[in-house]
Amino acid sequence: MANKGRTVYVCAECGAQASKWAGQCGDCGAWNTLQEAVAVPAGGKNSSFAGYAGPTAEVRTLVEVDAVAEIRQSCGNGELDRVLGGGLVEGSVTLIGGDPGIGKSTLLLQVLAELAAYNRTLYVSGEESPRQIGLRAQRLGLARDRLRLLPEVNVERILATAEIERPQAMVIDSIQTVFTERLQSAPGSVAQVRESAAQLVRYAKAGGAALFLVGHVTKEGAIAGPRVLEHMVDTVLYFEGDPSGRLRVLRAVKNRYGPINELGVFAMTERGLKEVSNPSAIFLSRHDTPVAGSVIMVTREGTRPLLVEIQALVDECHGGHPRRVTLGLEQNRLAMLLAVLHRHGGMAMYDQDVYVNAVGGVRINETAADLAVLLAALSSFRDRPLPIDLVVFGEVGLAGEIRPVPNGEERLREAAKHGFKQAIVPRANLPRRGGRVEGLEVRGVSRLVEVMGEI
Ligand code: TYD
Ligand code: MG
Repeated sequence: MANKGRTVYVCAECGAQASKWAGQCGDCGAWNTLQEAVAVPAGGKNSSFAGYAGPTAEVRTLVEVDAVAEIRQSCGNGELDRVLGGGLVEGSVTLIGGDPGIGKSTLLLQVLAELAAYNRTLYVSGEESPRQIGLRAQRLGLARDRLRLLPEVNVERILATAEIERPQAMVIDSIQTVFTERLQSAPGSVAQVRESAAQLVRYAKAGGAALFLVGHVTKEGAIAGPRVLEHMVDTVLYFEGDPSGRLRVLRAVKNRYGPINELGVFAMTERGLKEVSNPSAIFLSRHDTPVAGSVIMVTREGTRPLLVEIQALVDECHGGHPRRVTLGLEQNRLAMLLAVLHRHGGMAMYDQDVYVNAVGGVRINETAADLAVLLAALSSFRDRPLPIDLVVFGEVGLAGEIRPVPNGEERLREAAKHGFKQAIVPRANLPRRGGRVEGLEVRGVSRLVEVMGEI
């Protein structure tokens, strides 16, 4: 029987401890903030249940630190490797969050089956029976002879099994279903999720297993969801997409071993998740004839340029406040851009509703979309289409100037690769002498008024 230790109740607001649960914190008076936690003993000696503490560390200078690059290996999945920052790091802990049914289990089963070819692996499932997982693996055509499966939800028993199996890669599916004996709270509660994850993370860090934790994000604000774990793990990935559609996007929001905002794109097929290595082709729905209100821009997601269609609809506003609605773009930015358009372009839209959408469900967080948004709005307002072989990008400043954006040439090359013939870009983003982009006629602009005449 595992040592249960003593549990205490800690106020999430002020950190005060209480031995019993109460609706109100006795110290700060906040309501419903007491959460169960494992008491940390004052003495280090009898801390048998505090888990692995490791040998006492030494203080060193930076040059004495062994700065060998971390050991990485490919997951056999290019898109996941990219999001992780170039492969899976030994002993790293990765949290994969996402809505139920988005494909987390599918992805990790596929990845673990790939890793199993050269590694000891362990797939711990508290959600599905071994039979269900076996059937899925069979249907997906995965190698099933080496992948080890454990249906278990008790963390102490999972770790005891892991001690024997010594996996180099382990998946816990999901962190909301596992529980530790040290706490009485129900599985899935904040205290359980946090404490169970802490034990698993300590194991991974001590034993060198690369660990994947699956976390469901619930619609109701993700109370016991992955959010409470983000600070404990090395990498946080979110799996997004419309469950009724085919496209899935894996996004790194935290990564101790690589860049964030890197994007992996997958398609859910009847044979599992397939990598989409050329996402531009998917996000871009080409129109056969020019359409008013549609502009193609080149954005960057992580390290990749991505062609995205920006659509605007400008419609007469009937009564009250004109609406400024954006999907996949920032709403305040649209209001600002329309103000710039008025002051520096002489085009007023205060009696118009303006809707802007980044097609394909992408989210664009960079200012390079400014020029495309304004041109799309103008095109819709005047009901005049732009050429279909035109791409646009650039930031618009409050003084009506068009400012450069990073990696201009790379964006232009991506556009040329997809058959675009013309581009309107900030003057400072024009390719340098000799750096012409094959097949693309590039026009540099520095003021908003210069593009007003385009439409
Ligand atoms: P799943 O990986 O179980 O989601 P999660 O673990 O994130 O809850 O994925 C479930 C969905 O994926 C389910 O609706 C069916 C679909 N799916 C396919 O379309 N094709 C497949 O090959 C598989 C395995 C699942
Ligand atoms: Mg699942």
